[in-house]
Amino acid sequence: MHSVKLESILLTVAILAPVEIFAQSLETVPPGFIISGNQIIDPAKGSKVRFWWGYNETDPSELFFVVSARAKGYVGIGFNNRGGMKGADMVLGWITSNGTVIFEDRFGNTDFSAPVVDKEQNVKLEMAKENATHTMFAWTRPAKTSDTSGQDLQINNEMIEVLWAYTDEDPVGAPVMHTERGHMQLNLVEKHPTLGKP
Ligand code: HEM
Ligand SMILES: *[C@@H]1O[C@H](CO)[C@@H](O)[C@H](O)[C@H]1NC(C)=O
Ligand SMILES: *[C@@H]1O[C@H](CO)[C@@H](O)[C@H](O)[C@H]1NC(C)=O
Ligand SMILES: *[C@@H]1O[C@H](CO)[C@@H](O)[C@H](O)[C@H]1NC(C)=O
Repeated sequence: MHSVKLESILLTVAILAPVEIFAQSLETVPPGFIISGNQIIDPAKGSKVRFWWGYNETDPSELFFVVSARAKGYVGIGFNNRGGMKGADMVLGWITSNGTVIFEDRFGNTDFSAPVVDKEQNVKLEMAKENATHTMFAWTRPAKTSDTSGQDLQINNEMIEVLWAYTDEDPVGAPVMHTERGHMQLNLVEKHPTLGKP
C-alpha cells in the first residue's frame, strides 16, 4: 500500500502556505489552480461533504479536485455513469492519528466490496489535512489519463455520477464499509476552457 509520510505532506502544505481551505468555503484557491465549481454533495445527509473542481491554469488538461468532509476516517470520491460502486473510478484517502497520509487511486470492482487499488496510479495528492472534526484532500489528475485498463473514467463535457463515502474512524487494516455514502450528478468540465466547449 502506498503511503506518504507526514514530513512530505507538511512540505506540500508549506509550499501552499497561504492557503486556508475550509469545509464550507474555499476562501483562497491554491496558486496555479482555477476552481470552476463546488457543491455540497450530501445535501440529504447533513451537508458534511463539500466537493470543489477545477483545473491547472497553465495546463488545463490537468484537473484539480478538493474534498472536505466532516469525518475523521476515510474519505472517498468516485466517478462513473451509474452511481453504484461497480465501475467507479475512485480515490480513497485517510490520515492516521500519527499523521501518515494514505491516498490512492482505486476502482470499484463490484457494487458491494472495497474498491481495489488501481494498477496504474493517475492521481497526485496536492494537500491533506485533518483537524478535530474534518478531513480534507486536494489532488490533480489528467482529464484523460493514460490508464487503458478501464479503471479510470475519462472526463468529458457531460453529467457524470460523483460518488462520495466516508467513515467516522480510520480503517484498522484494509478499509471497510462506509458510515455514509451517496452520489449525485455533476458536470465537472462545463466551465473548463477547452473541455467545456461543445
Ligand atoms: C472501502 C470499502 C467499501 C465497502 C466494503 C463498500 C461496500 C458497499 C456496500 C455493501 C454497499 C451496498 C449497501 C449500501 O448501499 O450501503 C455500498 C454502496 C455504496 N457505496 Fe460502497 N463500499 C466501500 C467503499 C466505497 C467508496 C470509497 C465509495 C465512494 C467513493 C463508495 C460509494 C458507495 C455508494 C455511492 C453506494 C450506494 C450506491 C447506490 O446508491 O446504489 N463505497 N458500498
Ligand atoms: C477544522 O477544519 C474545518 C474544515 O477546514 C473547519 O471548518 C473547522 O473550523 C476546523 N476546526 C477546528 C477546530 O480547527
Ligand atoms: C500546472 O501544470 C504545469 C505544466 O505541467 C506545471 O508545471 C505546474 O506545476 C502545474 N501547476 C500546479 C499548481 O501544480
Ligand atoms: C502510523 O500508524 C500506522 C497504523 O495506524 C502504522 O501502520 C504506521 O507504521 C505508523 N507510522 C509511524 C511513522 O509511526
